[in-house]
Amino acid sequence: MTESTLTAQSLTELLDTRYSCRAFLPDQVPHEVIEQILTLAQRTPSWCNTQPWQVAITEGEATDRFRVGLAEALRTVAQASDIEFPREYHGVYRDRRRECALQLYSSLGIAGDRAASAQQTMRNFDLFDAPHVAVVTTDEALGTYGAVDCGLYVGTFLLAAQSLGVATIPQAALAGCSPYLRDFFGIPEGRNVVCAISFGYPDIEHPANGFRTTRADQDAVVSWVSR
Ligand SMILES: Cc1cc2nc3c(=O)[nH]c(=O)nc-3n(C[C@H](O)[C@H](O)[C@H](O)COP(=O)(O)O)c2cc1C
Repeated sequence: MTESTLTAQSLTELLDTRYSCRAFLPDQVPHEVIEQILTLAQRTPSWCNTQPWQVAITEGEATDRFRVGLAEALRTVAQASDIEFPREYHGVYRDRRRECALQLYSSLGIAGDRAASAQQTMRNFDLFDAPHVAVVTTDEALGTYGAVDCGLYVGTFLLAAQSLGVATIPQAALAGCSPYLRDFFGIPEGRNVVCAISFGYPDIEHPANGFRTTRADQDAVVSWVSR
């Protein structure tokens, strides 16, 4: 087998096995393993190699302190996101959004139960019991492309974690609590929260982890120009 076939196989395996984990075991990820993920994620490309991402990470008791403070902030502080949330989900975007929500709720046996679905959404703010959360910020002056670079960073982080047996979930829900995140992590002016990534070891028996999302066919997203 050639080296390039092996590389493609490894990447395929990572892409095929990664999923957004919504139930974690309490076990901490060893600090050295988190460092390994971060070293790999640093290889992310960016416009002019600006590498605009900064990452704040909790471990040990700090994660619980974060969770407790967040619960309080949700009750007492007006929520806001540094980066504008989607204005509208229309057409296929609405359909795909509905499909993945239905998959989650069906897996949990709560499809059609609005109260239970809302409760499940609130699990975002418990970090799905993850023992760690990473908050990724960008430089405000680098604008949309800085955020794009940070999005690439998030993607590399997810795959790097997967390669080391660590499960992840990117969370825009937490970006909606930017004032709290800014305060907790001491994020300075001029930096915008892009999203959070909760991570840890997966509870593979939990029904929230018992489904896999679909993807549109290539034909739905690619247009070829050959001559
Ligand atoms: C930028 C970003 C933000 C996301 N925010 C959330 C979130 O707040 N809560 C959540 O449950 N999932 C969130 N997700 C996970 C997506 O729902 C998930 O990636 C998508 O449904 C595809 O499923 P998969 O990751 O299992 O392949 C987010 C994903 C991305 C990339």
